[in-house]
Amino acid sequence: MAKNVTVVGAGSWGTALAQVLCDNQNNVKLYDLNQEIVDDINQNHRNSRFFADVQLPVGLVATTNLTEALKDAQIILLSVPTKVIRDVLKTINEQLDHAVMIINASKGIEPGTHKRVSEIVAEEIDQTYLEAFVALSGPSHAEEVIERALTTVTCAATVADKANEIQKMFNNEYFRVYRVDDLIGVEIGGSIKNVIALAAGIIAGLGYGDNPKAALITRGLVEIKRLGAAVGAKEETFSGLSGLGDLIVTCTSVHSRNWQAGYKIGSGSNLQEAIDSMTMVVEGVRTCQATYEMAQALQIEMPIVETVYEVIFNKLDPRVAIAQLMTREMKPEFY
Ligand SMILES: NC(=O)c1ccc[n+]([C@@H]2O[C@H](COP(=O)([O-])OP(=O)(O)OC[C@H]3O[C@@H](n4cnc5c(N)ncnc54)[C@H](O)[C@@H]3O)[C@@H](O)[C@H]2O)c1
Repeated sequence: MAKNVTVVGAGSWGTALAQVLCDNQNNVKLYDLNQEIVDDINQNHRNSRFFADVQLPVGLVATTNLTEALKDAQIILLSVPTKVIRDVLKTINEQLDHAVMIINASKGIEPGTHKRVSEIVAEEIDQTYLEAFVALSGPSHAEEVIERALTTVTCAATVADKANEIQKMFNNEYFRVYRVDDLIGVEIGGSIKNVIALAAGIIAGLGYGDNPKAALITRGLVEIKRLGAAVGAKEETFSGLSGLGDLIVTCTSVHSRNWQAGYKIGSGSNLQEAIDSMTMVVEGVRTCQATYEMAQALQIEMPIVETVYEVIFNKLDPRVAIAQLMTREMKPEFY
C-alpha cells in the first residue's frame, strides 16, 4: 500500500531514494532548506545541483516548509549531513503532531557523545511520536541509484516487523533491500567505512596502487569489527552489505566523496581545501574524530583510524604516516 513519505534533505542521496519510492508508487515529498533546489524540483523536475541530466518523476514534490512537509507524513526519511541531524530532529519534534516511522539513510557518529543516529533520534523525538526507527545502509552511490542501476542495501529496525515493511516499500527490479537484526552493527559499519575511505583516497593520491587498497579494506574491516564488538554489534553484520559491501564500494569508487577528499589530501591539498572543493558532504572527517575518541575511551586498537586522525587533525605527513603504519611491531594477522 502506498505510503506518505517525507524525505528530509534533497541532496544527492535523498533525491535518489525519493525517486525509488516514487517508482514504487508512494507519495513522496522532499524537504530542504535550499530554495533553489526546491524550485528546480517543482518547476523543472530536476535537481541540477547534483544530477545535471536527470529528469525526476513528475509526482515528486519539494518544499522548504517543514510544517507542510510533515503534514500527513507516515514516514520520515532522514538524508541530511549527520552534523545537522540533532538540530533537524529537535525542529521536527516541535512540529510533529502524530506518530511516524523514522528511516535514517545518513551515515555518521556524533563526536563528543559518540552517539549513533538511532540514539540521537531516541533522545530528540518524543517516544509517543516514534513508531519505529530503521537504519538503511549499504553499497549505494546516489549517482548510480538515480540512474536506476542495480543496487542492494540492508536495513535494521527497532521493531522487527518494520524491517519487512521497509523491504516491501523499497524493493523493485533495480533496488533490493535485505534485513538484518543488528541495528548497532548496521550503523557502525555504515559510519566508520567513511574513515577507511579517506585513507583509501589518501594512498591513491600519493600514487600507491591496488595492493595497499586491498590491505586497507581488509585491515579496515578488522578495526570496524573490533569497535563493533566493543559496542555490542554482531560480527556477521560486518561481512554483509552494510559492512564489507559498503567498505568495498566506498574505497574503490570515484563517486565516494570521502575517497575524493582523501585523494586531494594525498595529492597535497590541506583538509580545508579538500573539503571546500567538494559540493557534497564528507562525513568521514567528523566520524574520524568520533571513532578516534571512541577507540581511545574504549582502549581499542585502531591504527588506521588513528593514522587518518593524525593526518587530518594534526597534519601528520601522509608518507610519514604510512611508514609508521608499515613498521609497527610484528604481529599475527588474527589475535
Ligand atoms: N550520496 C550518496 O551516495 C550517499 C549514499 C548513502 C548514504 N549517504 C549519506 O546520506 C547523507 C546525505 O548525503 P548526501 O550525499 O545526500 O549529501 P548532500 O551534500 O548531497 O545533500 C545534503 C542536503 O541536505 C540539505 N540540508 C543541509 N542541512 C539541512 C537542514 N538543516 N535541513 C534540511 N536540509 C538540509 C542540503 O541543502 C543538501 O541538499 C550523508 O550522511 C551521507 O553519508 C549518501
